[in-house]
Amino acid sequence: MSKWTKNSWENFTVKHIPEYKDKDALKKALKKIEKFPPLVFAGECNILKEKLASAVEGKAFLIQGGDCAESFKEFNANSIRDTFRVILQMSAIFTAKMKVPVIKVGRIAGQFAKPRSSDFETVNDKTLPSYFGDSINSIEFSEQKREPNPSRLLRAYSQSASTLNLIRSFAQGGFANLRKVNSWNMGFVKATPEGKKYEKIANQINEYLDFIEAIGVNISSVDYLNSVDFYTSHEALHLPFESALTRTDSISGKTFATSSHMVWIGDRTRFVDSAHVEYCSGINNPIGIKCGPSLDPKELIKIIDKINPDNEPGKISLIFRYGKNKVRKYLPGLIDEITKNGKKVLWVSDPMHGNTIKSSSGLKTRDFSSLLNETSEAIKILKDKGCHLGGIHLEMTGQNVTECTGGIYKLSDEDLNSRYHTHCDPRLNANQALELSFNIAEELQG
Ligand code: PEP
Ligand code: CO
Repeated sequence: MSKWTKNSWENFTVKHIPEYKDKDALKKALKKIEKFPPLVFAGECNILKEKLASAVEGKAFLIQGGDCAESFKEFNANSIRDTFRVILQMSAIFTAKMKVPVIKVGRIAGQFAKPRSSDFETVNDKTLPSYFGDSINSIEFSEQKREPNPSRLLRAYSQSASTLNLIRSFAQGGFANLRKVNSWNMGFVKATPEGKKYEKIANQINEYLDFIEAIGVNISSVDYLNSVDFYTSHEALHLPFESALTRTDSISGKTFATSSHMVWIGDRTRFVDSAHVEYCSGINNPIGIKCGPSLDPKELIKIIDKINPDNEPGKISLIFRYGKNKVRKYLPGLIDEITKNGKKVLWVSDPMHGNTIKSSSGLKTRDFSSLLNETSEAIKILKDKGCHLGGIHLEMTGQNVTECTGGIYKLSDEDLNSRYHTHCDPRLNANQALELSFNIAEELQG
């Protein structure tokens, strides 16, 4: 076995990384990125790993959520704030019901590159490269715009840096103060049944805070009541970009991806000889592994052995995404194989990616009830096997979009066109994200 380096993935099977026509321009862009400051600090990644390890023991719960694909066009402060605050609201719901801390991880500040089922797209007899995410090419269907353009990597870095900067301000600067728990309820959510249900939890939290203040605790001096830890994550797909941001921590001498705190390996790049598995085997960040119907559990054991040879808890989160009709067929076998081999993993349900359908208008959508079904089913399966669901992975936004059908407002196929803004897969809107949270948290409470 040859030695791992941040570029050793080049000797493995590379899939879903675009070919650039102008190789020189790519090299130049990557050289620049190599000199840019890291986006995250190794110590933060270690703390996240410790928190995920406590979730493996059932003492915490992971919420990982955000856009399927971040875009340059939808980049603005309000949309970052709204995603951040829905995740805070969801956390309040899960903590209130489950009585454990919630680990908050955004699919944000770096979620730009997308694997596609086809390399090409044909519209009106014209065939062009598919859209691979804003860090690679544009969603606009023209020859020039669809050509992978290395300068987009620089823009993705810069957008990630400013997004993370704002998130850090929100997390530490007062916005996330628990006393503001009521104010996280947004205008368009407030009047809805979920908004009202949320208000009840928020009022309860405020009563607890009144109580602890009354017994003499000075709330403003308690850090964890005034701020939150919020982490970032994305699929480590564009390995040239990831390598350029891979750094050695000066304190521990260990290597980290510094593009975000946690990264994951997608369902299409998760196989033994994969370049993506090789890359992830050398970094010390927590790693997610997507598990879909094509996964052979025995192959997964080999992948885990490579990425986490010391079986460190918190290192590996298995983000399974089978679909509501397949979860019963595949999840039990996966759990058995993991248990038999004594692997310490966090079980995370992604009810989005196995439940994508085409609506009557041709738009990709997901029905709320399918998502809920898959996660509910998974909770039962894991429990029957003596394991537990440790987190959820959602494509969601704080915006009032119409991309997924169903939910309490019974969004229909006809409603989708009204506010369908996603650059890739359909996201839950704020109401749907809260509704799903209430449902899942109540099941887990039992
Ligand atoms: C995603 O998370 O956006 C994604 C592409 O998922 P998967 O790799 O599970 O299909
Ligand atoms: Co997606």
